[in-house]
Amino acid sequence: MDERGEQRPVMPLEVSDLSYVAGGKILLNKLNFRLEGGVRTVILGPNGAGKSLLLRVCHGLLQPGSGNLSWAGRTPSQAGRDLAMVFQRTVLLRRTVSDNIAHTLGIMGVARQERSSRIDTALKEAGLSDLADHPARTLSGGEQQRLSIARARVLRPRVLLLDEPTSNLDPGATAAVEAMIRAADADGTRIIMTTHDILQARRLADEVLFLHKGRLLEHTVASKFFADPDTSEARRFLLGELLE
Ligand SMILES: Nc1ncnc2c1ncn2[C@@H]1O[C@H](COP(=O)(O)OP(=O)(O)OP(=O)(O)O)[C@@H](O)[C@H]1O
Ligand SMILES: [Mg+2]
Repeated sequence: MDERGEQRPVMPLEVSDLSYVAGGKILLNKLNFRLEGGVRTVILGPNGAGKSLLLRVCHGLLQPGSGNLSWAGRTPSQAGRDLAMVFQRTVLLRRTVSDNIAHTLGIMGVARQERSSRIDTALKEAGLSDLADHPARTLSGGEQQRLSIARARVLRPRVLLLDEPTSNLDPGATAAVEAMIRAADADGTRIIMTTHDILQARRLADEVLFLHKGRLLEHTVASKFFADPDTSEARRFLLGELLE
């Protein structure tokens, strides 16, 4: 149930034979998987594996070259506001913290009288109430990332896609971002994220998609993936070896 007490039906994600080609290279290579939802999904893989590309295709920012992707039978653009994405590098407006949230509510047509309570709730959840009137671009890296998650969540998406949400953050800031991710999950928002941080993946993942060179090598329950992965590539990745 979400914060309004409504049931939120799970939107399964179905991907079949999905490929993405750019610059003459096959960057995503015939991916096939189905995510049922109700669990936190972490996409892992070495640099350049295609993790960020896959998230962007799932969100609809990039069109796949071939194959199909559907959210409960809908294309990403039909899914629209049910999907929200948080990028590795946050882009905040040159306005106050609360104006950044207000702007999103405004362009999405949320009624003016409803906006201020939505802003207050979002800032409270992000632990940013005391900074509401500060210029957003003066926030610390961790605060900026919390604001960008709050901004993504304020439209109550059913799915939150996060690309390396804690890269460059120290352990305290990372813990605060992870708490927001858990809170989103707890109120029924589906989490799909990438990370470089294997310890973070162990903390957050219920299931793992392991990509290598644009191919999906594993789609495995997290406990199994970390204890006994099926592929030698994943084993070596978990040992911290550089994969070719
Ligand atoms: N528009 C593009 N044109 C050509 N190549 C691209 C394009 N976008 C991404 N790539 C390449 O696709 C590959 C996958 O990129 P992607 O950003 O998805 O990797 P990643 O798994 O997220 O890596 P990292 O762990 O470094 O974030 C990389 O080799 C990248 O250089
Ligand atoms: Mg990436």
